[in-house]
Amino acid sequence: MRKVIKNGTIVTADLTYKADVLIEEGKICAIGPDLSGDEVIDAAGCYIMPGGIDPHTHLEMPFMGTYSSDDFASGTKAALAGGTTMVVDFALPNPGQSLLDALKVWDNKSAQAACDYSFHMAITWWDEQVFDEMKAVTERGINTFKHFMAYKGSLMVNDDEMFSSFKRCAELGATPLVHAENGDLVAEMSAKLLAEGNTGPEAHAYSRPAQVEGEATNRAIMIADMAGAPLYVVHTSCEESHEAIRRAKMNGKRVWGEPLIQHLVLDESEYAHPDWDHAARRVMSPPFRDKKHQDSLWAGLASGTLSCVATDHCAFTTEQKRYGIGDFTKIPNGTGGLEDRLPVLWSKGVNTGRITMNEFVAVTSTNIAKVLNCYPQKGAVLVGADADLVVWDPEATKTIAADTQVSAIDYNVFEGIEVKGLPKYVLTRGFVAVDQGRLQAQEGHGQFVARDPNGTVNTALSKWKDLTAPRPVVRSGIPASGV
Ligand code: URP
Ligand code: ZN
Ligand code: ZN
Ligand code: ZN
Repeated sequence: MRKVIKNGTIVTADLTYKADVLIEEGKICAIGPDLSGDEVIDAAGCYIMPGGIDPHTHLEMPFMGTYSSDDFASGTKAALAGGTTMVVDFALPNPGQSLLDALKVWDNKSAQAACDYSFHMAITWWDEQVFDEMKAVTERGINTFKHFMAYKGSLMVNDDEMFSSFKRCAELGATPLVHAENGDLVAEMSAKLLAEGNTGPEAHAYSRPAQVEGEATNRAIMIADMAGAPLYVVHTSCEESHEAIRRAKMNGKRVWGEPLIQHLVLDESEYAHPDWDHAARRVMSPPFRDKKHQDSLWAGLASGTLSCVATDHCAFTTEQKRYGIGDFTKIPNGTGGLEDRLPVLWSKGVNTGRITMNEFVAVTSTNIAKVLNCYPQKGAVLVGADADLVVWDPEATKTIAADTQVSAIDYNVFEGIEVKGLPKYVLTRGFVAVDQGRLQAQEGHGQFVARDPNGTVNTALSKWKDLTAPRPVVRSGIPASGV
């Protein structure tokens, strides 16, 4: 059965043009005028774009004494409802646990996924076993390794461990990712705040100011450079971190920054809310920032110094957030956004003129696919690419509300925001998961996307690092000692 999307305007990261799209067996098989198929999807007045890719989710994540409440079933359905057709989640070995055992756990969790997915592997501890298993992990199609520089005492790794792991990534043609916050300083500041009676959710933000993120980002960049690896900085939330990334890029270092939709539109005033629940629901790391940082992040998207917009979707219910009543360090860190990332970015970015439609596609899909080395299978409207597509209605509107969301939690940090621009149809490998705005996703439809190592940037960088590596100077003679 061949489906054809007719009468729409294709918008990619670099082109906008009118054409029909023909789909067969889950793939795009033709693009051009006047195509016909067995089933017609009418895209009149709409844009046809590559489905969103969210490079940063935590579905059913074991964290801070609980599990995040959206699992691969509800989380991927929420993704599809908002136009995202692929998510990349983090396999998290417990310290001491085999990476391959952790991978089995994530394989099991993801069986219910309604859209395609891939994994990053977290490096949460270090020894020879981890070094060895990183190779087996890359052979399983995972070319990205995450390092937490925060969460001291649980997920955090130290500089020596990070340096070892980054060097291993360079050898394997893989890319390290960092959660960049100085975990030692956060731990010390948290203890001091608690001792002084600062126990509420606002103290979470006081405990991790922009300096701890800027410092850690710069440190990770320098360590990656010494290791000969590129670097992807997740949830870049402030000018200090963006500044470090920008400077590194201008110096030719291969570094990418990923702002979250939350940090682009929500700010630290949320933590001053008189309702404890309201503030706690917004506790995440890094925290929401002073509004001035938002201009920096938007400028980064427009100029290309920041590359991808993610959600870090890690959804906890109000009941879970209340574990931290009386002690902000026990509030599970994380917020949702999978369903809202595209409509909010379109409304606050494209509709305001901060970014173009093509930049929107780049930062929500194409750039991500390139960094992760799954382009053009994903992130493209090209013949041969997977038919992961969004038919986007720029005139459709809604007010974001927890009452009508797909996500399993009982609130939404974007509650009340009016969006203009919504998916009318969403296709995941040709299957219509959103039909005229109605979700009809199928649990278990999602497939694992294997991603090879040695992407073009990894290959170029290792060539350059080899060429410029320290070498002994060849001399014709060595003077006799003691002369
Ligand atoms: O607060 C957050 N971001 N929770 C999820 C885990 C992480 O740090 O990404
Ligand atoms: Zn993080
Ligand atoms: Zn995260
Ligand atoms: Zn299917």
